[in-house]
Amino acid sequence: PPQPLPGPLKDDSSILVYDAAHPYQPLRPGDQRGPCPALNTLASHGYLPRNGVATPVQIINAVQQGTFDFLTLPLIGFNLENSFARFLALSTFLVNGNPITNLMSIGGVTPLTGQNPPAPATVSGLNTHNNCEGDTSMTRADTYYGDNHSFNETRFQNFVRFSNEFGAGKYNYTVAAHLREFLVEESIANNPEFTLVSPRLFTAFGESVFPVNFFIDGRDKSGQLDLGVARSFFQNMTFPRNFYRRDGAVNNVGQDVVTNYYPFTPGYNANGVNSFVVDPTSATLSQPCLRYTNFVNNNIKLLYPNPTGLLLQSLKTNLQYLYEATVAAGDGCTQVFPYGQ
Ligand code: HEM
Ligand code: MG
Repeated sequence: PPQPLPGPLKDDSSILVYDAAHPYQPLRPGDQRGPCPALNTLASHGYLPRNGVATPVQIINAVQQGTFDFLTLPLIGFNLENSFARFLALSTFLVNGNPITNLMSIGGVTPLTGQNPPAPATVSGLNTHNNCEGDTSMTRADTYYGDNHSFNETRFQNFVRFSNEFGAGKYNYTVAAHLREFLVEESIANNPEFTLVSPRLFTAFGESVFPVNFFIDGRDKSGQLDLGVARSFFQNMTFPRNFYRRDGAVNNVGQDVVTNYYPFTPGYNANGVNSFVVDPTSATLSQPCLRYTNFVNNNIKLLYPNPTGLLLQSLKTNLQYLYEATVAAGDGCTQVFPYGQ
């Protein structure tokens, strides 16, 4: 059954995370890694189980106490605590994890998550397309091209090129804005199956600033990410030597720099390349409650139309946790109950 979720860290200062207790170890056969460079790195250093299969509680603890803590949202000015970590972990778990065993793969399908609930549930891990993973990733290709989760050198070279052009050789918020525009325009022009709607819309714009917010050593306040450090996370799944996590908790601060430069209305290619149309049913980036409601009523309900017994109980508990994360984030959404109260 689902466990109670961890609260915020008491100490959110900058501390050494690449320490003796968390050595990097290479992958063993069967270990899962996927589209998220942060979770991959945490697993390769033992902050998450090294096999890449974890519970929501393990994921929240890892992203807080590992490099990454999402404890407050300074934009709003009161203590929002760890709402962002909870929302991210729970929303991906509900669609990509196993609600019976409480385990999720941070990569592909594996027997390590236990026996699956009945179809149409999929339990196929973070590699699953369009539940959270989606098009226009910085260092992973669009699903249309085949592999949506492995590090892709060609795409990383765009990251390098934009950092050189707009950041004097470093990745920062300005680079993030220009690269995001490029990635979306490039997919519209080349990927006939391009889509960028909620929930992926939110992760796409959030992830653009994650490297600035979380991959820079906590003792460095420049806001400029070194490209060697970027490669260490994105490709090698390892902390740079002697790495300290950031000082003080944040979530997607800086995302406004990206959206102000490149406002984007969610949509998709309706009829081959260069046929972009707006999707009026998708939440926009300024509609977090529509995102929550549609995610519950569409994405989750589609996978679990008629759950019973333990499965039903587990889904209800996790849906409650998801809603509480939106409350903690100050979104003011109305709770929805797809399986009754
Ligand atoms: C990408 C899940 C925490 C940094 C992704 C993707 C997923 C994911 C599914 C793939 C999306 C895509 O690009 O198509 C999660 C979950 C987390 C988590 C469940 C748990 C709370 C973090 C943290 C960081 C982070 C703490 C930063 C330190 C990134 C970045 C990408 C990404 C930079 C984009 C990769 C790219 O575009 O090439 N994450 N993530 N994630 N994640 Fe995470
Ligand atoms: Mg992707």
